[in-house]
Amino acid sequence: MRVKYQARNVEVREEGSGPAVVLVHGYPLDGDMWADVSRRLAEKFRVLRPDLPSRRDTPHPSQPTMADYAVWLAAVIDAAGGKAGVAGFSMGGYVLFELHRARPEAVAAAAFVDTQAPPDDADARLVRNRAIFTAREMGPSAVSDRMVPKLLSPAGSRRTELVERVRSIVRRQNPNSIEHDLLAMRDRPDSRPTLDAIRVPTLVVVGSEDAITPPAKAEEIARGIAGAALVTIPGAGHLAPMENPDAVAAALSEFFARSLR
Ligand code: MLT
Repeated sequence: MRVKYQARNVEVREEGSGPAVVLVHGYPLDGDMWADVSRRLAEKFRVLRPDLPSRRDTPHPSQPTMADYAVWLAAVIDAAGGKAGVAGFSMGGYVLFELHRARPEAVAAAAFVDTQAPPDDADARLVRNRAIFTAREMGPSAVSDRMVPKLLSPAGSRRTELVERVRSIVRRQNPNSIEHDLLAMRDRPDSRPTLDAIRVPTLVVVGSEDAITPPAKAEEIARGIAGAALVTIPGAGHLAPMENPDAVAAALSEFFARSLR
């Protein structure tokens, strides 16, 4: 699908037909992280996998903020008919919180996958600043070397082919996208006070071994949103959609089939 955005035609990966489902990737990744889940969901849905700003042909954000990323996500949904089921993984979840605050009518159902509602605390902001320095001085492969072990569970880290796939996605990211993501995540607002404003059907998914946004963070989101369901993916780390795409796709498929009728 082509989306007109900032005077450009931006290509968005699309497969399948049916109700629209948009899969939003995390950091430091792109829409390919959802490839396996998307293939399974495409049996029932029209699945869109945009790249967030500063990747491939998606323009730079006017400001590196989650609010600006959400403007792009809203443009994708508008091009797809104005309303969609949205699944946001980690940073993609931060964007989904923003999208829901700015354009609640665009979100027909929300899935928060391995993500969290609180903002960065002082220590986390310091870590972001150091990562910005690493990306500038040493490039995306240094970020990859530090990041990949944290994305997977101990068992996932022993799967050579999986590790290589994750690495190749991280390594092809350009320094701009890495820096913009880090700034946007570092300065993101607290989404806890607006959890109870989310009134659409909601699913929360988390890998039981998620070391970046552990199950307690998922429980906090589920507790804050009336009627939200929580699914735990046993044995999966943070990057559950790549580590166990069958289980994540099954949870999302059942949820979106029910809520996008
Ligand atoms: C992500 O997976 O998108 C990021 O690791 C989230 C974060 O660092 O807060």
